[in-house]
Amino acid sequence: MQMGQVIGFNDYANYRLNTQMINSEVHENNCARKRKRLTKEQKRIRRINRIKNRIMRALIVVMFFLIMCVSTIMVKYIVGNSLLNDNETDGYGNTVHAYEKSDNTTKSGENTEVADGPWALVLVNKSNPIPSDYEVELTTLFNGVQVDSRIYPELQKMFDDMRNEGIYPVVGEGYRTSEMQKQMMQEKIDAYMAEGYSKTVAKHQAKKYVAKAGTSEHELGIALDINASTDSSTTNDEVYQWLYDNAYKYGFILRYPEGKEEITGIDYEPWHYRYVGKQAAQEMYESGMTLEEYLQK
Ligand code: DAL
Ligand code: ZN
Repeated sequence: MQMGQVIGFNDYANYRLNTQMINSEVHENNCARKRKRLTKEQKRIRRINRIKNRIMRALIVVMFFLIMCVSTIMVKYIVGNSLLNDNETDGYGNTVHAYEKSDNTTKSGENTEVADGPWALVLVNKSNPIPSDYEVELTTLFNGVQVDSRIYPELQKMFDDMRNEGIYPVVGEGYRTSEMQKQMMQEKIDAYMAEGYSKTVAKHQAKKYVAKAGTSEHELGIALDINASTDSSTTNDEVYQWLYDNAYKYGFILRYPEGKEEITGIDYEPWHYRYVGKQAAQEMYESGMTLEEYLQK
């Protein structure tokens, strides 16, 4: 009985042990499967995380790029406005200033000037075409004419002073593209032909006043044709005389003077003024030298 009890107990114990072992095996298998499943899951999560990280990095780069672009535009806008000292701008951020306004909207005493340099003495004529890589930043005037932004402050001062003396000028021509210059030459030739000249003579005559495309100072943006405003009683002669006497003080020279046609290759043009900087302009004014002569000396 006792033995049987013992045997019975052992059987039971064995049974329990076996059951536990089986359970534990099942558990182990389950865990292994789980581990396997978890590993797959982890791999999936890791893949997703990697993709997320890439997207985040790309977003950060795009954001950085956008911030840089916006900052550059803002700096250009703010600096451009303070340099040009005006409160109106066109769609390109250039100053739109009304030269013909009777009020003086340019404040004096502010640092609006750009230092003169080699750019102001570049020689452009029949034998010296515009450098192919020439670049110019333009300011658009109230009437749509464009000029090199660097000459704008002196041009404004000159016009203000002229108006203060009761003379009302206007910039009729400023910067021209090569295409515009070509078209201008054609129009001049056509005009001579309409007057009855042969094509050869018309071309010859036109070249006395209009430079061939690629060789015009107007393509630089620092040459201007200045005449009397048609909204005033000022005559062209009054404007030309004032400019002849005073333009050098602002850095401009009469580029094609009378009697110098052989040197400049262009007939007398009392309206065509070219920026060279104040020092050079004064020296040319006092010596009577053309730009060609001045640069050769
Ligand atoms: N009228 C000057 C010469 C020009 O066309 O550039
Ligand atoms: Zn001109």
